[in-house]
Amino acid sequence: MTITTVVFDAYGTLFDVSSAARALAERPGNEAFAPYREAIARDWRTKQLEYSWLRAASGTHCDFWTVTQDGLDWALEAAGLQDELVLREELLAMYWELSAYPEALKVLSILKAQGYNAAILSNGSPDMLQGAVESAGMEILLDAVLSVEDVGVFKPSPRVYEQVEARFGCKPDQVLFVSANGWDAAYGARFGFHTVWINRASAPRDRLPGTPAHTLPDLTDIPTLASDL
Ligand code: LAC
Repeated sequence: MTITTVVFDAYGTLFDVSSAARALAERPGNEAFAPYREAIARDWRTKQLEYSWLRAASGTHCDFWTVTQDGLDWALEAAGLQDELVLREELLAMYWELSAYPEALKVLSILKAQGYNAAILSNGSPDMLQGAVESAGMEILLDAVLSVEDVGVFKPSPRVYEQVEARFGCKPDQVLFVSANGWDAAYGARFGFHTVWINRASAPRDRLPGTPAHTLPDLTDIPTLASDL
């Protein structure tokens, strides 16, 4: 069946989640933070996601801004930086204006010209997503920004993926779902979406139910893939 709708995960897929720590480390006067940058970025993302899965599994939902702050607090304490409150505030502020991957805007523009519905489907809270989308100048290229807050549970609950059909009236096999998170790509595929895993780091495939039909190194070939399906 022909693809009508291309749906992107946000964090890690359109937006580079490590850009906050990187930008801060490169700021003049922040040289002391540089040695911690990689560990903070890694631990922050790992804990943010772990907390989202555990809250979904245990029925203790909170919004993504809360798990984002909780994950950062864990990462800062692990690095012995828990008292660096200015650093904490600067890192959190940057999460509202993460850099988009360099090819993201062009890909969205091409999809729009090709006539596809284009959307984000993300764990992010609506205000976080609005900040990132506006900061990247993407708002006119997206038909919808769908947040898990409308269903009150994080990915990979099927209730999240069901939001696409509810919004666009399309069947899962009319959707090309794009995620750089291996686990999100696995469960998107299991849900029935045509799924592309963006594997920038050449990571091994996650051993989970559902196998993405396609793997690409970045977003560049998404428009071609959508029109070939
Ligand atoms: C999101 C997380 C999974 O944007 O990156 O939903």
